[in-house]
Amino acid sequence: MAETQSLFTDAPLDVVIMAAGKGTRMKSKLPKVLHLLAGRALVQHVIDTAAVLSARQVTVIIGHGATEVEAAIAGNIRATGQFDLNFVRQEPQLGTGHAVQQAVPVLRDDGIVVVLSGDVPLTQADTLTQLISACAGTHLALLTIDFANPTGYGRIVRAGDAVQAIVEQKDATPAQLKITEVYSGIMAVPAKQLKTWLARLDNKNAQGEFYLTDIVKFAVADGFPVVAHKIHDAAQVAGINSPLQLANLERAYQKRVALQLMEQGVRLADPARLDVRGTLTCEQDVSIDVNCVFEGQVSLGEGATIGANCVIKNASIGAGAVIHPFTHIEGGEPGSKNAVEVGAGALIGPFARLRPGAKLGAEVHIGNFVEVKNSTLAKGAKANHLAYLGDATVGERVNYGAGSITANYDGANKHRTVIEADAHIGSNCVLVAPVTIGAGGTVGGGSTVTKDAPPLALTVARGRQVSIANWKRPAKK
Ligand code: UD1
Ligand code: CA
Repeated sequence: MAETQSLFTDAPLDVVIMAAGKGTRMKSKLPKVLHLLAGRALVQHVIDTAAVLSARQVTVIIGHGATEVEAAIAGNIRATGQFDLNFVRQEPQLGTGHAVQQAVPVLRDDGIVVVLSGDVPLTQADTLTQLISACAGTHLALLTIDFANPTGYGRIVRAGDAVQAIVEQKDATPAQLKITEVYSGIMAVPAKQLKTWLARLDNKNAQGEFYLTDIVKFAVADGFPVVAHKIHDAAQVAGINSPLQLANLERAYQKRVALQLMEQGVRLADPARLDVRGTLTCEQDVSIDVNCVFEGQVSLGEGATIGANCVIKNASIGAGAVIHPFTHIEGGEPGSKNAVEVGAGALIGPFARLRPGAKLGAEVHIGNFVEVKNSTLAKGAKANHLAYLGDATVGERVNYGAGSITANYDGANKHRTVIEADAHIGSNCVLVAPVTIGAGGTVGGGSTVTKDAPPLALTVARGRQVSIANWKRPAKK
């Protein structure tokens, strides 16, 4: 999302992510850092930010739910390849200083270490770039923020302007408790110095924990410069401890996305009723009604209109297309043949369902209660009511009647149905695949078609209508 600025240092960046804590207040079996924000695990946001920063190595400190957290991160392809990924166990959890001590064996001396938390998902890459620049390999740089209510946070104690220490809430004097500048939990520090300071930590404090924040006083004692980089955007340092905090941060994230879209000219009926769980790209003059959810990679062409209550995943919607309310579009992997494509000027819904591999050409109409899966519909094809098209190739201007289906599955294998251009399929037909309906052909309503139908012919495959004159219904005895 954010552009990274160039750094004032060439030192490699090694990121340490603390993620061993329990997250008791989530009251969930799922480890806290695996809860989703905008469709991505909290810790995945942090890892993705490390990737934007071109980190050399990322070390995740795990403890509670370690196996699950490790599997979830390692299983995500985005997490691998771009940097060395290490998992380090911290058992038991004796504090944030103890957590980072566990990473020491994998930290190299020439790097700048950025300490992040797996439950603080929305720190922006450019903020960290500024923090790293403040560190520059020569300073201990702390990310700080002013809070009107600083309760619970470590306070930034200064003498004049110079940072002297971070004092935790439970260890603070009444005067220190009045300090509103707090430590965010994020720092950038040269690895070499960090290691010497970590070796000096003790747990002689109110909580009996090894505080990472105690390294500040060691730096000051060593005459090593400490700087505070203060920001004003609380969402960037907000940690998640409870379902309420998760929901609040989700809304903060979504509001930010909505504002960005509107700045680009996208018309949102209500910026508070939009959810983007992935990447949404919009051309000019797109409008989106309330309660729409966009997942994965979705692109909306010029002048596209999205009705209320649509859920759209991994799809590209063409220029001028109209997606009527309550449409569900579920494309497969972005960029794959399973992503959904909707052509320019197409009309979809209301209540339509487009599944993986639906490829709709220009001006295709898909009406209510129509399901399309792994099928190609050429320009101007229409299926307006109550129908199923699975594994079908549909030509231009085909009209596919209400209640008709492709019987694509024989219980073991899937087969294709081909409907050539200008064919007209009546209502309530069953096209038993593999089968081809020739160009310009007509299939009479209620037909079960098991053999290819020739072009231009009328094909009828159902019981003939008979009328028995003066039919007497049985009477009650
Ligand atoms: C910490 C800071 C405090 C700062 C606050 C910001 C310390 C001593 N204090 O406080 O100055 O204002 O963050 O939110 O660092 N964790 C482990 N292992 C542990 C302990 C914690 O991995 O043994 C992880 C947690 O899962 C969490 C992160 O470290 O992701 C921070 O821990 P937390 O308990 O929230 O720190 P605080 O005491 O709130
Ligand atoms: Ca905390």
